[in-house]
Amino acid sequence: MAYALLILIVALAIPHIPAQGAAPLPSVAKEYLEGHNKARAEVGVGPLKWSEELANAARRLVRYQKNNMECGMASLTNHKYRGNQLFTVNNETMTPRMAVDRWVQEKEHYIYSFNECMSYFRTCVAYTQVVWRKSLELGCAQARCSEYGTSITICFYNPPGNIKGERPY
Ligand SMILES: *[C@@H]1O[C@H](CO)[C@@H](O)[C@H](O)[C@H]1NC(C)=O
Repeated sequence: MAYALLILIVALAIPHIPAQGAAPLPSVAKEYLEGHNKARAEVGVGPLKWSEELANAARRLVRYQKNNMECGMASLTNHKYRGNQLFTVNNETMTPRMAVDRWVQEKEHYIYSFNECMSYFRTCVAYTQVVWRKSLELGCAQARCSEYGTSITICFYNPPGNIKGERPY
């Protein structure tokens, strides 16, 4: 009886084994993904997948900013990947979830009918990247410089969004 039950339990468990032995995502990756995919679902856009390649590029860049730039904003214009970044001062707490929330809050500055941000001072390009339909993959990293009270969060997207003349969704 116990043996039969064990077989049943094993049989029930099998469909839950991930295909191809995919490693489970680290919780920090889930945090970045959840914030993005919730905002995307709200406008009918499919979810992003985590990319270790993008995450590694983001890790390298935040490490560089930490070691050389007091965790200041990175220059992304000539970078291989394009993405969102968030810079904080005064030892402000900034978890991955909070950083994504900050970008998603720009939604209130986005005017869908004109496909424009409200004004130069009311930017929304971080939001439009978050919900960019053609972006499929995400990879992010964060660094803190305690001695300066600063932090930098960077997310890269592939393919990148905010293509001129295109709508996010
Ligand atoms: C940030 O916190 C560290 C201690 O963790 C402190 O040494 C530093 O002075 C603080 N910086 C600012 C700008 O508040």
